[in-house]
Amino acid sequence: MKIRKAVITAAGWGTRFLPATKSQPKEMLPLVDKPIIQYVIEEAVDSGIEHIIMVTALGKHAMENHFDRSFELEDVLKRKGDDKRLEEVQRISDIARICYVRQKEQLGLGHAVSMAKDLVGNEPFALFLPDDLIASEVPAMRQMIGVYDRYESSVIAVEPVPSEKTSAYGIINPKQIEERVFQVMDLIEKPSPEKAPSNLGIVGRYILMPDIFDMFDNVAPGAIGEIQLTDALRVLLKHQVIYAYQFEGIRYDTGEPLGFLKASIEYALKRPDLGPAFKQYLQQLDITD
Ligand code: G1P
Repeated sequence: MKIRKAVITAAGWGTRFLPATKSQPKEMLPLVDKPIIQYVIEEAVDSGIEHIIMVTALGKHAMENHFDRSFELEDVLKRKGDDKRLEEVQRISDIARICYVRQKEQLGLGHAVSMAKDLVGNEPFALFLPDDLIASEVPAMRQMIGVYDRYESSVIAVEPVPSEKTSAYGIINPKQIEERVFQVMDLIEKPSPEKAPSNLGIVGRYILMPDIFDMFDNVAPGAIGEIQLTDALRVLLKHQVIYAYQFEGIRYDTGEPLGFLKASIEYALKRPDLGPAFKQYLQQLDITD
């Protein structure tokens, strides 16, 4: 069955990025001149997804406004004759069919995903955690859909993580079945390095069978007291095979300042209009000590 729908969980407080996120959604922080959430939606659209379900929360209206029409702004740009920006602003509001559902209490990632149950219905879907941005030639989700098309079961994105960092990730116990593709034998949320079954950490891209929604009923709060998606996947694993895919591309954790800075610099350097001047500026900075 074709992957038509994407769920994007965008309900978190963004505490790792305070105070910038005190009164604005972390997903609206700009990388160069585009909010993070737009990169994520563009990845979904470039992967062939038609319908986006965004899980939001209190204080996240700026995202809805960003993807809505703004007739006043369009009028200003028209009167200025700024056709290029007008076209971009109109493109954003037509980018996809987006609907929004609220997570009223922040009880964890698993709980946030479960909010999308009625809107997803009984079909496999893509899940994006927008803190993770992936720069790649082929959009990461399109790569994952390629794996899903062959195996027709849930697929989780993974990448090797430093062993001292396992407690920041879900970690899988992998059985390699082809280049970059693994069967997930087990998975555990935020294990200490001693308890981690491998160094393959889960990254925020998933393709999930709709059966995942029934699993949340059997999941108690786990790591950090939250209802974890990883724990629900562990229950699903008793009924279905789950695959993991080591995507091609570079992943940035834009949910914390260092990852955000790295992404900002790399994305700016790649921009034809800004890259050369920015590179020249960086080269003349004395950062050797
Ligand atoms: C979530 C998932 C975790 C995954 C991570 C990827 O954790 O629970 O399994 O490895 O995203 O970014 P969080 O970063 O929300 O703590």
